[in-house]
Amino acid sequence: MKVAIIGTGYVGLVTGTCLAESGNDVVCVDNNPKKITVLQQGGIPIYEPGLQELVARNARDGRLTFTTDLAAAVRAAQLVFIAVGTPQSDEGDADLTAVFAVADAIGEALKDVPPGPPGTRVVVTKSTVPVGTNAQVAERLGAKGCSHVDVASNPEFLKEGAAIEDFMKPDRVVVGARRPEAAEVLRELYAPFLRTERPFLVMTPESAEMTKYAANAMLATKISFINEMANLCDRLGADINDVRKGIGHDQRIGFQFLFPGPGYGGSCFPKDVEAIIAMGRRTDLPLELMRAVDAVNDAQKRVLFEKIRAHYGDELAGKTLALWGLAFKPRTDDIREAPALTLIDALLEAGAQVRVHDPEATANVRAIYGDKLHYADRPYGALEGADGLVVVTEWAEFRNPDFEVMKRLLAQRVIFDGRNVYDPRMLRQFGFTYYGIGRGARA
Ligand code: UDX
Repeated sequence: MKVAIIGTGYVGLVTGTCLAESGNDVVCVDNNPKKITVLQQGGIPIYEPGLQELVARNARDGRLTFTTDLAAAVRAAQLVFIAVGTPQSDEGDADLTAVFAVADAIGEALKDVPPGPPGTRVVVTKSTVPVGTNAQVAERLGAKGCSHVDVASNPEFLKEGAAIEDFMKPDRVVVGARRPEAAEVLRELYAPFLRTERPFLVMTPESAEMTKYAANAMLATKISFINEMANLCDRLGADINDVRKGIGHDQRIGFQFLFPGPGYGGSCFPKDVEAIIAMGRRTDLPLELMRAVDAVNDAQKRVLFEKIRAHYGDELAGKTLALWGLAFKPRTDDIREAPALTLIDALLEAGAQVRVHDPEATANVRAIYGDKLHYADRPYGALEGADGLVVVTEWAEFRNPDFEVMKRLLAQRVIFDGRNVYDPRMLRQFGFTYYGIGRGARA
């Protein structure tokens, strides 16, 4: 199939590349000429494991091309995906400026193209958009004389760091369409990825839009739930890691997304929870649970700092803390809404020195903090002379370090384990003072 993807951000680039990999003829469009030049020269503007190689192979084989010419790409395509950003507006809503600008440009490009039977041309919204947006996109296309063009919603559930795997083997594909022909085109497009009997679910555009928010709201709720339980464990002397196992074996509960930590970050959960609260506000529904999920997470982003402050007391000013992990989660260089940033701000404000290491995200952090921090190329480099280590992101390389080496490098043997990656008992045997999240600190 001939596919145009508008927007070469995270979702657009992964979608375009994976669709090319399955044999489609894909053109990726962006209005940023610098991004397009980088892509045309074989580079990629983001870090995602495996993506560079996949882009290079498909570009070499001619199935994947890049352009700034939206009109030409759209006219040549049967399927046009809108995958531009929907940042948070001041009111907490998703800002749809880019989505609507692209919808208008698509309408403009297609207005003189003779209409075909249903399904001839389908505009697919992949960006996460509030319920009702697909209907507005359809209206805008209609206003340009393109009411024959189908509009479908196809939300994306991929996780950063595992995006290609998630796209290639989705748990499900969700499509919202008014006319069955549009859904059928997408069923054909996704068939190669659904060979393992994963479902292709067709519903209305409104339900598809809502599905995306409900999925992320549920996951964010699980995280805030376990974080709240962990904080209570800290106060009562229980160990959340045992409690987690104790509840997870109940199949109605399960183990996934119940790992306590320094709060969720990233480009999706914080924004989508705000957006769902805004949808409630617009419809006079208070959405108390969502507001609590959000508030618990805001507070959780301070938990590591509170533990650090409680440990060093008034002497925190002048102390040096080493941070391992800055990205909002492992296997990405993304620092959007990362708990590490909240912690760095609080430490600097308290007068502490901060030494940091992250396998991929250092450049992005340096762009914000410049020479206010010390940047170490290696994990152990961050520890030299530090009064304590804070593990903020659970990169695999932090899981099994040489604790003897760490003891030599650190000025004080204190570990704040923000992801519960270490065994508290073992660390105490090594002579460390250990703080986890919900590991019964006051027991
Ligand atoms: C998420 C959704 O998982 C994905 O389906 C959606 O399309 C986009 O949003 P992503 O933001 O890439 O994906 O990351 P994810 O792995 O879901 O983690 C989000 C945040 O939650 C991270 O900060 C992570 O550290 C945190 N988290 C996750 C926890 O604190 N505990 C957990 O048990 C799981």
